[in-house]
Amino acid sequence: MAKIVFFEVHDWEKAYLEKALADAGHELKFYLAKVQDVNLDECKDADALCVFVYSTVTKEILDMLPNVKLVATRSTGFDHIDLAACKERDIQVCNVPTYGENTVAEHTFALILNLSRNVHKSYLRTLQNDFRTEDLRGFDLKGKTLGVIGAGHIGQHVIRIAKGFGMHVLAYDPFPNQFLADVLHYNYVSLDEIYAKSEIITLHVPILEGTKHLIDAQAIVKMKPGVIIINTSRGGIIDTDALYEGLKSGKVRGAGLDVVEDEKLVMEEAQLHQVGHEKSEWKRLVESLEILKMPNVVFTPHNAFNSQEALERILKTTAENIKAANISGGKGINLVRISP
Ligand SMILES: NC(=O)c1ccc[n+]([C@@H]2O[C@H](COP(=O)([O-])OP(=O)(O)OC[C@H]3O[C@@H](n4cnc5c(N)ncnc54)[C@H](O)[C@@H]3O)[C@@H](O)[C@H]2O)c1
Repeated sequence: MAKIVFFEVHDWEKAYLEKALADAGHELKFYLAKVQDVNLDECKDADALCVFVYSTVTKEILDMLPNVKLVATRSTGFDHIDLAACKERDIQVCNVPTYGENTVAEHTFALILNLSRNVHKSYLRTLQNDFRTEDLRGFDLKGKTLGVIGAGHIGQHVIRIAKGFGMHVLAYDPFPNQFLADVLHYNYVSLDEIYAKSEIITLHVPILEGTKHLIDAQAIVKMKPGVIIINTSRGGIIDTDALYEGLKSGKVRGAGLDVVEDEKLVMEEAQLHQVGHEKSEWKRLVESLEILKMPNVVFTPHNAFNSQEALERILKTTAENIKAANISGGKGINLVRISP
């Protein structure tokens, strides 16, 4: 019997996991708090950690938990886990690769439609008993070109939905799927062609060495004047300074953001002490906060995954991951490959 400690778990999730793992015979302990906010003396004998994206699993935390052999994250992304530290200790790391493809794609369109039809501005205006429609005129999606950067699981759903709106779709992905392109009627092109031809650009790439600040000042220069940029992937894909300048100058007409750089700092004042002494870090933080206040920006607080159905899929896969993992005597499934 292994001891598994869960973090960031609400009561309904606890009930689901207890039921789903009842036959595995493990001891389960639950916290609503993030791993870094818990007194880890209470979990010293943990064999496994199960976390969500706001728990930061650092080497320091792992050092306090010498028995941990598994970190199961209830997310697709795993940039909140120190993979090198896990590798050093031979700790398995597993994730939930595909819970929210349609969910995040639907949210992407929630952001696009907010901006194309000024839904957010209409809402704020009518709350003030102001029912004028001046400045609320939007634009049709039909006939517009959507540039999809990263045509993986989520990107493909975005393409499918865009086609339903009658949009033209251009995609960029280092691993093109020509069969799907033929079936769904979209074209793979270079990044430069996406920049040159798209009215709306949406990002669905993982954050990697090569994708950090993929959208920088040079990329924005190449884009159409009045482009709309949507980011539901990770904040670091966009250089905040470049987006800030683009929005201020009007080159970028609007942005729909579910994620921003330094998200934790932006959303939690309590984390501000973590900002380093570099002037550039403070500048970026101030720019992020200003971006969120701009009238042509719609921001949702990393909420794209957050539908009931998606959350249930996450819990189902997490229970399966735990049952198949080393702590349950298995080899593991949905293991995050840690490069040497
Ligand atoms: N906001 C949210 O709630 C939320 C939820 C789930 C996932 N996400 C983010 O969405 C991202 C995409 O998820 P997914 O399930 O579609 O992942 P995926 O791995 O299926 O697709 C990513 C695609 O990006 C492509 N790619 C890699 N490097 C690229 C590059 N330099 N340029 C263009 N394409 C590149 C890959 O070939 C792949 O096809 C995740 O990495 C995660 O960060 C966000």
